[in-house]
Amino acid sequence: MSSKADKMREIREEVLALESSPLYSYRTSGNYYPVIGEGSHDAKMVFIGEAPGKNEAKTGRPFCGAAGKIFDELLASIGLLRKDIYITNIVKDRPPENRDPLPEEVKVYGPYLDREIEIIKPEVLVTLGRYSTRYIMERCGLTDELCPISAVHGNLFKGATPDGRAVSILPLYHPAAAIYQRALKETLIKDFAMVKKFL
Ligand code: URA
Repeated sequence: MSSKADKMREIREEVLALESSPLYSYRTSGNYYPVIGEGSHDAKMVFIGEAPGKNEAKTGRPFCGAAGKIFDELLASIGLLRKDIYITNIVKDRPPENRDPLPEEVKVYGPYLDREIEIIKPEVLVTLGRYSTRYIMERCGLTDELCPISAVHGNLFKGATPDGRAVSILPLYHPAAAIYQRALKETLIKDFAMVKKFL
C-alpha cells in the first residue's frame, strides 16, 4: 500500500501534467509551478485558501507572499506552526493577474483537494475566504447553510467529507482581505482563536 507521501506525490505529478487545465498554458508560459499543499500529512487541521498568487507560483509553495505573512501571524497568535498543520488551495495553478478563480477551474482542481483531504483525514477544515468556504460547504453536505462569508465567518459547522467522515468546518475571511481592510485583521485574529479548541 502506498504511503501518504506517495499519494501526495501522485497528486503533484498529475497536476504537473494537467494539460487539460484552463490554467496550464499560463503556468508553462510564465515558468510557474503548480502549488500543492504543504505541511503535516497527519494534521488534525487542514487550512484551505483560494489559488496561488505570483510568489506562490514562482516557488511552488502555498501562502508565501503577503497573504502568507498574515497567515503566519495568525498561526503565531495561537502558538501554531506550519509544520503542525496542512495548508493548501482549491485551485492549484495561478489565475492570470490574480483574478478570482472561475467555476471551471474550481471544477478541474477540486477533486485534487478532495484527495488531499481523504489522505490526511483531518478533524477540522478551516476555509479561508468565500471560494474555499463555498466549495467545502457544498462538498460536505452543508449547501443549505451557505451564506456570504460576512455571515458565516467564525461559525463552526459539522459536516461529512465526500468520503463519509465527520468533520468540523470553520469558515474564516481570507488573510488577503486584511491587507486591504485593516479592520478585518482583528476579526481574523478573533475568529482564529476558535482554532485553539482543536489543539
Ligand atoms: N492566496 C491564496 O488563496 N493562496 C495562496 O497560496 C496565496 C494567496
